[in-house]
Formats: sequence, C-alpha cells, structure tokens
Amino acid sequence: ASDSRVHIVEVGPRDGLQNEKTAIPLATKIELIERLAKTGLGTIEVGSFVAPKWVPQMASSDEIMEHVLQHKISSPVPISYAFLVPNSRGLANATAILQQHADAYVAEVQQARELAESSGESSQAPVFKPAVELAVFAAATETFSQKNLNCDIATSLERFREVISAAKKIFPASVDGQPSPTPLRVRAYISVVLGCPFEGRNVDPKRVAQIATDLLEMGADEIALGDTTGMGTAPRTKELLRSVTAAGVRHEDVALHFHDTYGQALVNTAVGLEHGIRTYDSSVGGLGGCPYSPGATGNVATENMVYFLESLGMKTGVDLDAVADIGSWITGEIGKANDSSVGKAVLGS
Ligand code: HMG
Ligand code: MG
Repeated sequence: ASDSRVHIVEVGPRDGLQNEKTAIPLATKIELIERLAKTGLGTIEVGSFVAPKWVPQMASSDEIMEHVLQHKISSPVPISYAFLVPNSRGLANATAILQQHADAYVAEVQQARELAESSGESSQAPVFKPAVELAVFAAATETFSQKNLNCDIATSLERFREVISAAKKIFPASVDGQPSPTPLRVRAYISVVLGCPFEGRNVDPKRVAQIATDLLEMGADEIALGDTTGMGTAPRTKELLRSVTAAGVRHEDVALHFHDTYGQALVNTAVGLEHGIRTYDSSVGGLGGCPYSPGATGNVATENMVYFLESLGMKTGVDLDAVADIGSWITGEIGKANDSSVGKAVLGS
C-alpha cells in the first residue's frame, strides 16, 4: 500500500451506540451497518460480546454476528466486521456463532479455488480478507482496568493471552487439513493511554509501550491506542508514540482511537500521520462514549476524519457525502444532535 493510503476503522455501531440508554432496535443497527458497508470503509466494528448486565445495548451482538456471516452485505471493498471480546466467556459466545458458519466459509474458499483453477490461474489458495475480526481491550491504568474489566492489568493480560491464542484457532476452519488460509485477526485496544478519568492525565507512556509489546507477543495483530477521555494533546501524543516505537512496536501495527472530548482528535491524528501511522478509528456522526469514562464524548466523527485526511492528499477510499448522509440519519434515528461539523457543512444543515 502506498504511504498516502489511510485505513479508517468505523466504530460507530459499537463504540458509538454502546452507551445509548434507550434500546436501539436491531433493525436500525443492521441498517446502519449495511449503509456504512456501501461507503468504502474496510473495517466496521459492529458489536461486543460483553456482559449485557453492564452494557445492555450490545446484547444484540450475537444476532449482528449472525447477520454479517449469513448475508452477503454488498460493499465496494471487502469488509472486516469487528467484535469486542473481554474474556473467554465472550469468546465462547462468539465462537459458537462462528463455528456454525465455518462450513459455509470453507465451501466458499473451495469454490473460489476451483474457479481460479478452471480459469487457468494459479492454483494457490485464494487470499481472503477475513469477514470477522475480534478485539480484546486492556487499559493503561489500574483504576480504569478495575472499572472496565473488573480485574487488574496483569490479570487482564493473562486472560487476553488465552483469548488470543484460542481465537486464532477457531475460524475459519482449515481446508483439506491445511492451516487456515486466514486465521481470525485480533486487535488489542489499550484504553486511557493519554488520560484516565480516575488517575488523571499523566499516564506513563512506558507502561503503555510495555502493554503493547506484551499484547503483540501474545499474537495480537494490531494495537489500538485509545484516548478514551480525549485528554490527549499533540505533544503528549508525540511522546507516547515515541515511547511505543522505542519499545520496538512497528508503526504499521498501531492504530489510533481518539475520542474528541476536547476537540484535539484531528490535531493528534496529524501527529500520528507524521509518525507513520495509517490506521485511525472514527465514528459516524461523532457518536459515542464509554460507559466507564464519565463525561467522555464520542469518537472523532468519520466525516471529519475523511475530510481532514483527504485535505492532506491522503486516500481513504471513503465516500464523504454518503457517510455524511448516514451521520445525519442515525443521529436523528436515536434522537441525538449530529456531532460532525463536516457532516453538517457537507449537507448544508
Ligand atoms: P466478570 O469479571 O465476570 O464480573 O466480568 P462482573 O461482575 O463484571 O460480571 C459478572 C456477570 O457478567 C456474570 O453474570 C457473568 O456471567 C457475566 P451474572 O452471574 O451476574 O448473571 N459475564 C458475561 N456475560 C456475557 N458475556 C461475557 C461475560 N463475562 C461475564 N463476556 C467483564 C468482567 C469485563 C466481562 C464485565 O465486567 C463486562 O462485560 N464489562 C463491560 C466492559 C465494556 O464493555 N466496556 C466498554 C467497552 S471498552 C471501550 O469502550 C473502550 C474502547 O472504545 C477503547 C477506548 O476508547 O479507549 C475499546
Ligand atoms: Mg472508545
């Protein structure tokens, strides 16, 4: 991929909706996902296998996983649908659904292979982008870890080691006894990397770097650094990225996840771009907030992210007008103000 290509991870259907108090109908969530799928986004985070007692809005995640596996949602690019998994209980719930679809997946792989052979092309296994990926989530401070995961950081990492290694084995099942052509991709978040609602803004960047290297060593494919509170500033983002690089983490293995509570998300994105990072999370309409981060607002809006990146000559492949329409629609649907300045400007509203 060229250096000007930026991958946007749309987290609206998960991070954007998880904190909404009123139950959003499944049909609305699915419509949101299907509309987003048509805009050129390559990854959409759509659910979370967490305790419904804590995050009731995500209770429909099993139905959403069923839906994305069962229906071929039309999209201009292959899409990976992401789901959070906090522990082995969550992984077991996800695995039960994934396994029901493993046969169909294998059949598809074989069909594609036969097609490639009959058309005289190479008989190598076709490369598929996995349709589903999972994400674990650690924290950079002990207090946040306790509030969000009900355990300390060390315990959470031990759990993630098991979750990651088990996740790598489940889906897709192997074809003809060969290793899986594309084992499930697992992202690992680290929250509160630039400020904690309980411990303040001085989060130790070296601690973050250590957690990141631990998670990569466990087999995580990507580290998503979460500015959960939006307290990050440009100088501290730079310091954090330097620490992470100094610990040996490659910039291509890092994604940045900025909440825009203080309006610094795009400034911090610019710092990330200079550092070589090419994956950024955002949420349509600026939806979102974390139930364990009081006062934190949504992720930076996807509309603002696309507009900003394209203005720098970067390529996102995302249709800004289409995302703006979706932002206006979904915020109306759930009775929130559209939090995307760019979305509103594009729509002239
Ligand atoms: P626990 O340690 O088992 O204890 O769960 P608990 O007391 O918190 O929960 C216990 C109850 O949940 C039990 O049920 C368990 O069986 C059940 P009960 O006996 O009371 O009926 N349970 C589960 N049910 C379904 N699926 C599961 C599961 N696990 C336990 N996977 C746990 C700890 C972390 C699982 C729980 O506290 C939980 O789910 N918390 C919610 C955490 C969460 O969703 N946070 C928001 C997402 S992270 C985020 O937004 C940040 C991010 O965006 C990045 C950033 O911005 O920085 C990713
Ligand atoms: Mg978040």
